[in-house]
Amino acid sequence: MKILICGGAGFIGSHVAKAIRTAGHVPVVFDNMSAGHQWAVQWGDLVKGDLLNRTEIETALREHKIEAVVQLAGSINVGESMKDPGKYFRNNFSITVNLLEAMDAVGVNLLVFSSTAAVYGIPETSPIPEDAAKAPINPYGEAKYFVERLLDWYTKARGFRCLALRYFNAAGADPDAQIGEMHSPETHLIPLVIYGALGTRPPVKVFGTDYPTADGTAVRDYIHVSDLARAHALGVEYLSRGGQSTAVNLGSGEGISVMDVLKAVEKVSGKPVPHELFERRAGDPPHLVAKSDLARQVLGWKPERSDIETIVRDAWVWSEKALREGLYSE
Ligand SMILES: NC(=O)c1ccc[n+]([C@@H]2O[C@H](COP(=O)([O-])OP(=O)(O)OC[C@H]3O[C@@H](n4cnc5c(N)ncnc54)[C@H](O)[C@@H]3O)[C@@H](O)[C@H]2O)c1
Repeated sequence: MKILICGGAGFIGSHVAKAIRTAGHVPVVFDNMSAGHQWAVQWGDLVKGDLLNRTEIETALREHKIEAVVQLAGSINVGESMKDPGKYFRNNFSITVNLLEAMDAVGVNLLVFSSTAAVYGIPETSPIPEDAAKAPINPYGEAKYFVERLLDWYTKARGFRCLALRYFNAAGADPDAQIGEMHSPETHLIPLVIYGALGTRPPVKVFGTDYPTADGTAVRDYIHVSDLARAHALGVEYLSRGGQSTAVNLGSGEGISVMDVLKAVEKVSGKPVPHELFERRAGDPPHLVAKSDLARQVLGWKPERSDIETIVRDAWVWSEKALREGLYSE
């Protein structure tokens, strides 16, 4: 199949392009390069375009004879969304309205969408099942949840088949180190810890040491980006053989604390991780872990590289390469 990957020059999207190519399909990347990297586009054509512009997306769909779309494009910084909600509803929700209208106009109706654990807000139970209450606590999560609702309406009203993938914490890097994480600014724990150990960033800030968790630090579910990426290829195949619209969690099901991450980086690198302890940050849930058996049932997917040591090892090898080759940006 010819599959358009919106946001395919970014961290997760570039791994999705590789996984889609590996699964025997043809990826075409559509990205405005606001946060994407030219070096990350290695497995298909790059169309430089903006989802805010409906004509650009419609032209790409027609010219490349696209049969299905993966929508990863958007703004991703939760903290920024609290200061600038308009940006987050525009560049997550409105752009996806444009995309769906353009797809409808050209007769493409299969869509895999990057959703997030942030749709659950602060959940009452962990591990979190897909039918847990949706109560986002920031504009980023709310805009993603709006998109999920939009997909439901396009399913009912326009015959679309859509799969929302609710990622937990995407981490790691391509096992061949061809691509990896490079956000600017970086807000994700694992790269912050690794670059801290490599001496290119200040000591890591650990927020909260008195949570009701085994070591007092917050627990998250880290999922290897290559495992995530494979789920998108399986997701497109699921939809193309008639699979119905649904939403599934993508997590490892393992709870890993901030201190576990620091220890894993020290073990893999043999270097100490400089860090400082701070009070809890407002709005950070103590424990966020996915219940992820639905993805196994629906997609036949299971994580293969998502133990914390493999995630950290792949991320470490990539980060060293990024520094060596001048790809690193703060
Ligand atoms: N990284 C995570 O842990 C995580 C967790 C949950 C959900 N997600 C979601 O996954 C998706 C990908 O995340 P990522 O970490 O790869 O982010 P990223 O910033 O690396 O990639 C996003 C890409 O989208 C492009 N883009 C942004 N706005 C665009 C627009 N209007 N038109 C065209 N292209 C546009 C950017 O240039 C970038 O290449 C995002 O939607 C994010 O919300 C990520």
